[in-house]
Amino acid sequence: MSKLTILKYGDPILRRKSIEIKEFTADIKKLAFDMLDAMYKANGVGLAAPQAGFSIRLFVIDINPPDKRNPLIMLNPVIIKAENKIDMEEGCLSFPTFYETVKRFENIKAEYMTLEGIKKTISARGFLSKAIQHEIDHLDAKLFIDYLPDWKRKSLEKEIKRKRKAGQW
Ligand code: CO
Repeated sequence: MSKLTILKYGDPILRRKSIEIKEFTADIKKLAFDMLDAMYKANGVGLAAPQAGFSIRLFVIDINPPDKRNPLIMLNPVIIKAENKIDMEEGCLSFPTFYETVKRFENIKAEYMTLEGIKKTISARGFLSKAIQHEIDHLDAKLFIDYLPDWKRKSLEKEIKRKRKAGQW
């Protein structure tokens, strides 16, 4: 069982910029696997370290169905190529029950480090491309609601405030 709590919108840690990982330690490896546990438990497809309370440049993604799990763990990710912006619907484990349309690059190429400190490159399209961009945003303290028009973000924040008052957030 995972000991991690997934932070919800409103927690100041989600607005804190994450720092680069310089040492590839056993603690970071353990955190990555605890994050995967927490993500699977919450039926999510991606989770960034800040959502678990750690301001370091690490996230986990698994867009595969439960019987075909194939996690992707990325440290210090950087997008080196991005093409073709399209509208895609997305959600976030820090915003349970909310889904919104956001413009993302359909195709990207990114560099990252593995848990062992090995440099890798990944080409991603569609859903995976969107997920990587969403998680990198978390490391830069950016949230998917930041892409919404003002009126929409305000109504969403109002709804969250209402939920918080009702003890549902
Ligand atoms: Co998210």
